[in-house]
Amino acid sequence: MNVLRFPKPPSSDERRYGEKLPKRLALAGGLLVLMGLGACSERDPADEDFLRRASAFTPLQPASPDETMPLPDLEAAAELGHRLFFDQRLSGDGTISCATCHDPEHGFADPRPLADGMGQATRHAPTLLHVAHHRWFGWGGKADTLWSQAIGPLESAHEMGGHRLALVESFFRDETYADLYNKAFRTSPQISRFLEPAEPGEQRLSAQEATALWPDLDPSDQNATHGLLADSAKALAAYQRKLVTGPSPFDRYVEALAAGESTEDIPFGEAERRGFELFAGKARCFVCHSGPFFSDGEFHNTGAPPLHGGEPEDPGRYRDGKLLQADPFNATGEFSADREGQTAERTRLLKIGSEQWGEFKTPTLRNVDLTPPYMHQGQFETLEAVVAFYDTLENSVGASHHQEQILQPIGLTEAERADLVAFLRSLTGTPVPEKWTQDPFP
Ligand code: HEC
Ligand code: HEC
Repeated sequence: MNVLRFPKPPSSDERRYGEKLPKRLALAGGLLVLMGLGACSERDPADEDFLRRASAFTPLQPASPDETMPLPDLEAAAELGHRLFFDQRLSGDGTISCATCHDPEHGFADPRPLADGMGQATRHAPTLLHVAHHRWFGWGGKADTLWSQAIGPLESAHEMGGHRLALVESFFRDETYADLYNKAFRTSPQISRFLEPAEPGEQRLSAQEATALWPDLDPSDQNATHGLLADSAKALAAYQRKLVTGPSPFDRYVEALAAGESTEDIPFGEAERRGFELFAGKARCFVCHSGPFFSDGEFHNTGAPPLHGGEPEDPGRYRDGKLLQADPFNATGEFSADREGQTAERTRLLKIGSEQWGEFKTPTLRNVDLTPPYMHQGQFETLEAVVAFYDTLENSVGASHHQEQILQPIGLTEAERADLVAFLRSLTGTPVPEKWTQDPFP
């Protein structure tokens, strides 16, 4: 039996306050409910009931700090990460950056169903908005920290086709990078490998050039490039932690209603509210899309049919969970600053069994309206299509003994489907500050 496999039925408290919420948050949620009850003399019982349930889904608190990457200057790291995120020089052919697939104009997701970088990928590039709230990264959870997730794309042939060397090159040649690096990490990168004789056609720094940039460089450290790669990934993570949107109409509506304030100006009307009731009730979406992040952070097989038909071929969690455990950059490894902490422990205890074949991570639904197409292959072009799928489970695939028992055809009316979609559309927050969405290389 795999202890991490969802779902175990939530306790009534968990259900009320959202699964696995920290205590403090649960208290805040409780307070909201109490405030609601306090004013009950004037409030409609239907509103009270709505508030009680809605408080499990709002507000979204900031992600907790990542103990595996405590950096001396997170702001400088975020700025460094911001540059790296948009820097096409990091890719093999100099045309692709993270922003190519995680498009800031498209909720930091990819408008194309399948990512296409240096070669066609088999999965869709998901949104990076609020990404730091995830417990596992990638559709199959190949990474256990946000920073280690970035190491893959930096080197994967499918994605950027870049190379550690190219990364370090850009550090050497660009003084802005060198400055930000020194500020963020209060140390100089260990870069001995770049002092070795270059392959034909490859440029390397002379020891003199390098020590001019980083006076306390240790040219004897064999692990140099790995360290720099991990640091760059951590800077990218510091940047991605900035990719958060403000309150959505749903958040604002619940807050105003709880405070007894007018909700008139908030674009959250009867349809959205009926949609929420379906979401948190009969349609059972909340079972997996739970809590203020609208994700239980775990993996499920929804049976969504593959993009190009046929039988599903992607093992999902089954493969990626094993890759994670073998990854030298995971939270238990030498580049993690918290090798005995909670994140590392979760990875160490992870048991992957064949029942996880074809499971994918529950995505957040915050800002979901911004990021079509949907699912791990971008199989569905619209939210209407996603809801229609859940409603009927038509064309659902996957071996029957692997299939989630939770998912059953719902039997919604056309109007109910529209309400559910209206609710999903009310989860779009105010935009990420422009400072972080702009390309720093005009
Ligand atoms: C060629 C397209 C492409 C590029 C370039 C790319 N990614 Fe991705 N990204 C993807 C795909 C596809 C996935 C899903 C991967 C998986 O499930 O294994 C993904 C997943 C992620 C995730 C996990 C999100 C989640 O919800 O779990 C993060 C974080 C991420 N990418 C960050 C980055 C960063 C940082 C860069 C630049 C260093 C980058 N990506 C470059 C396509 C891309
Ligand atoms: C059994 C758990 C489970 C339940 C119940 C569930 N979902 Fe999902 N949901 C998932 C998983 C897992 C994915 C990703 C599936 C994939 O990529 O193949 C997903 C994907 C989605 C997406 C696509 C998001 C994106 O960014 O690609 C939407 C929208 C969505 N679900 C809405 C709903 C709604 C609405 C309901 C209720 C009718 C619901 N879900 C019920 C687990 C669940």
